[in-house]
Amino acid sequence: MPEYVTVERRGDIAVITLDNPPVNAFSLHLREPLNAELVKLRDDASVAAIVIACAGRTFVSGADITEFGTSRSGQSPNLIDICAMIETLGKPVVAAIHGTAFGGGLELAMACHYRVADPKSLLGLPEVKLGLLPGAGGTVRLPRLVPAEKALAMITSGNPIGAVEAKTEGLVDAISEGNLVDSAVAFAKSRIGEKPVAVREREARVSGGSYGALDGLIEEVTKKARGLEAPVAAANAVRNALRMPFDAALKAERETFLRLVAGDQSRAQRHIFFAEREAQKVPGIGKDVTPRPIRKAGVIGAGTMGGGIAMALANGGIAVTVLEMSQAALDKGFGVIDKNYAASVSRGSLTEAKKAERMGRLSGALDYAALADCDLIIEAVFEEMSVKKDVFGKLDKIARPGAILATNTSYLDVNEIAASTSRPQDVVGLHFFSPANVMKLLEIVRGEKTAPDVIATSLALSRQIGKVAVVAGVCHGFIGNRMLAARSAEGEALMLEGALPAQIDKVFTDFGWPMGPFAMSDLAGLDIGWRNRKALGKTSAIADAVCEAGRYGQKTGKGWYRYDGRKAEIDPEITALIEAESKKAGVTRRAVSDEEITERTMYPLVNEGAKILEEKIAARPSDIDLAYINGYGFPVGKGGPMFWADLVGLKKIVAALDKWHDKTGRDVFRVSPLLRRLAETGGSFSARPA
Ligand code: NAI
Repeated sequence: MPEYVTVERRGDIAVITLDNPPVNAFSLHLREPLNAELVKLRDDASVAAIVIACAGRTFVSGADITEFGTSRSGQSPNLIDICAMIETLGKPVVAAIHGTAFGGGLELAMACHYRVADPKSLLGLPEVKLGLLPGAGGTVRLPRLVPAEKALAMITSGNPIGAVEAKTEGLVDAISEGNLVDSAVAFAKSRIGEKPVAVREREARVSGGSYGALDGLIEEVTKKARGLEAPVAAANAVRNALRMPFDAALKAERETFLRLVAGDQSRAQRHIFFAEREAQKVPGIGKDVTPRPIRKAGVIGAGTMGGGIAMALANGGIAVTVLEMSQAALDKGFGVIDKNYAASVSRGSLTEAKKAERMGRLSGALDYAALADCDLIIEAVFEEMSVKKDVFGKLDKIARPGAILATNTSYLDVNEIAASTSRPQDVVGLHFFSPANVMKLLEIVRGEKTAPDVIATSLALSRQIGKVAVVAGVCHGFIGNRMLAARSAEGEALMLEGALPAQIDKVFTDFGWPMGPFAMSDLAGLDIGWRNRKALGKTSAIADAVCEAGRYGQKTGKGWYRYDGRKAEIDPEITALIEAESKKAGVTRRAVSDEEITERTMYPLVNEGAKILEEKIAARPSDIDLAYINGYGFPVGKGGPMFWADLVGLKKIVAALDKWHDKTGRDVFRVSPLLRRLAETGGSFSARPA
């Protein structure tokens, strides 16, 4: 049996060391021996004070989330029991914190009488990111150590603070100098003989005693939560900490935790947490595949995407040369980059020094020779196969052997692009999302001939630049855009039959998407799709008529809506235009229900996801969920389209798709065999609904 808990005596101080690699999660097999040792030390008269420290790279960095939703999670001794035992031990207990004291780890530390921290350690309560709130006194103890406003910000954002700030705020009593455990032992010695004051006996407070400000903050959190329960519940728990007796607030917190942990939103958010880790495992890419080093990168095209990609790389510490066709295009691109960084500086999220450092990593060029020493070159030029092939042909001539040649194409065939070079094994799709310096998703498109170490390098790159990677196979639109096309396919028909853009958009925003498809098109510009349709010889009666009326979206002040600045207003002209098109098509308009809109947009999205799984374009359903949450604004509380489909019930989805297929005969409703089989056998997409 590994020794999860050991005790060492230093004179009359007992040092307990917890050792549960890799991150000292507070699992039952750790809690049991810890509880037993605490009882022994409590009853041992030769022990005057106790230090709780951790082995390995961190203090307890949280509860064991694999226990959530299982019987082990709350099993005694649970964290609440252990916190209560520490507080009433009658001898000073000092937490010695290094690495990350997160979640249950910080709750444990806050139940101790004192905290000594390594200067580099981080302290936080990230539960809200899993759709939860701290469930073992975190919301009740933190406002007794730091001002309630600070506690509220930490608990509702889930973001940690550093040890030095924690000391200023009152969360930490001392910062260690030199060896942490030695410092904690010295601190404990200095407190021997004092009657330790438990955190629960302190008073929760707001700065300046103004409760009104706190209520304002809670209102703000509620507004920003956009339907997520956890941040609101966490904010209310902080309010309880101020207004209720300690034990009542603790009980209320626990009840809320139990409600949230059993709810769909937290299950969805935990699903996404595991999905991110899972997505790093790519079939055929084992740990033995070594990524290629990326020291210098090139980006071709300084437009919307090229500029954002260059920023994303520079933010991750990589030197970037941006290539354009003219000095004017280069100047324009760099102007936008500078403006974007300046906006971050004025928002306070970036310092001037950091901005200068990042800008310093960027250089411009007009000649391909400037890219000859790059380890990675990402192309973000116009979306046209002939242009892409021309660029890759040039790259093939100048790039050094072993350089990775990537395309940011949204739809085009990566195999065909690769075949235009003499080194298809070095070619990969790196599909960023707009704005590329902000959006988290990086879709890595694996060509037929892409070498395993190119995929491994792309995964490593995504981590270095803080992106969430999903690997996709080659098909038109890959995972994300192919599914989006299925989601949008019925828009025109719904409008012809009786729906209006504002109704459809509202169904989407009620669902939790940040924007509906029509508001989104107005933002992106309607003329792009129109030009594409014309090039392909396709028509779309209503959308074409909108463009013919000179309505290209926000940039012309009119599109599917009328704009007053950025504010969209319903435009009677659009209503009339749509009604006229129905008449022209001989369609009698009828009331279209919100449910029908969902069935004809969201269900095809799920169905296309199933087809993508069948074709092995995505390795697993959770990869699709990850792509949709991080690249398309799918509401995080619903866990992604495939997880959500399980919640709705696959039988129900298949029945609706069949009904619409019978009515319209259209391909988007043709049920994928995988989806049908799962529905018929009671299966589900989410392998791990915790
Ligand atoms: P854009 O039109 O804003 O920028 C393209 C830039 O490439 C222009 O500045 C142009 O001067 C430059 N360029 C064109 N041909 C060139 C060449 N041969 N050599 C050097 N520079 C050249 O286009 P955007 O939106 O940035 O799209 C670029 C690529 O990214 C396309 O393949 C597009 O499908 C893809 N993409 C676009 C997204 C978006 O939301 N805009 C999202 C994801 C991918």
